[in-house]
Amino acid sequence: MFTILTLNPIAKVGLVRLPADRYRISGDAADPDAVLLRSADMHTREIAAALKAVGRAGAGVNNIPVAKMTERGIPVFNAPGANANAVKELVLAGLLLACRHICEGWEFARQLTGTDEAMSQAVESGKKAFAGGEIAGKTLVVVGLGAIGRLVANAGSALGMSVTGFDPALTVEGASQLSASVKRAPTLDAALAGAQYLTVHVPLVDATRHLVNSERLRHLAPGAVVLNFAREGIVDERAVVEAIDAGRLAAYVSDFPTGLTSRHKGCITLPHLGASTAEAEDNCAIMVADQVRDFLEQGHVRNAVNFPEMIVPRTTPYRLVCASAASVEAAGRVSDALARAGAAIQETASRSRGDVVYTVIDLTTAPAAAVVDELRRIAGVRMVRGIE
Ligand code: MLT
Repeated sequence: MFTILTLNPIAKVGLVRLPADRYRISGDAADPDAVLLRSADMHTREIAAALKAVGRAGAGVNNIPVAKMTERGIPVFNAPGANANAVKELVLAGLLLACRHICEGWEFARQLTGTDEAMSQAVESGKKAFAGGEIAGKTLVVVGLGAIGRLVANAGSALGMSVTGFDPALTVEGASQLSASVKRAPTLDAALAGAQYLTVHVPLVDATRHLVNSERLRHLAPGAVVLNFAREGIVDERAVVEAIDAGRLAAYVSDFPTGLTSRHKGCITLPHLGASTAEAEDNCAIMVADQVRDFLEQGHVRNAVNFPEMIVPRTTPYRLVCASAASVEAAGRVSDALARAGAAIQETASRSRGDVVYTVIDLTTAPAAAVVDELRRIAGVRMVRGIE
């Protein structure tokens, strides 16, 4: 029986994939085997002694202490792509909100009073204040060509925009999913040069904090629009507000309101709605529930942000999984210790990612508890678990 702690509501279609005869799911489990969450902050929480996996029903993992999980041999799974369409659709809405001055026009319309005829006259005389531009034919720069960035780039292109993407880590598979009309820039600064619309789709890590700063904003076309549906810290909002006030930037559309931006002229902020659709919540919940279950029951690793991918068919009923530090070559010592204990290994597979080596060992007989304990004591071994 595995105990699952949910730190946020997780869509039912996902939770039902963890059947009640094997999983106890609760919002207040004290020592869970796995945690499922959306945006709850795990940084301030103790890591439970029994914790084996974390499943983030979404893409961003900045609310999870990933490095600490890695040190404990705990994979952190996310749901890349599962909410990409929802975010893409809101980015498109953001483009249109900005270029057609929809928020200002709506505000104007909400404040109209009097008879219908008086309102109609006020509309005809007032509407010129909200005349906008069209996105077709404008340049759109997409920074980050992961699942969301690619969809945004392709959609922008389909709407007649001239799209340039930048992503130094774009995979061959990712590139193959980009529309042929999306150009690729060799550097970020080259991508930004003269851009009329800039949208960012990168995770928030040290290297991306304030990726869009006052220096980079100067590369954009006069009157450009910046969109941020990724994470608050990626855009230096002081620089953005300064550029708006100086008339260099027309608008900042962000999914992360702050004291500085929520009421500032030229800023349109939404309450982190990018992935808030029933479809995205269902997709994310299904994806992480399946991944966490597969890890707990089979030792498979799919879409973990800190572990290598590992999907190896079971060859025997007895499987050991082990996570160790690459730097101390612990994985070899695990095999030696198993050999010394007389354990018969049928198959073994090992992969590394960063400083994590993840090893799956199929044994012909169940390993003795004392042997598993001995493995856990090997220097550099972070996690050993038997799966039957
Ligand atoms: C994500 O990271 O997937 C999105 O920002 C939505 C969310 O935080 O759940």
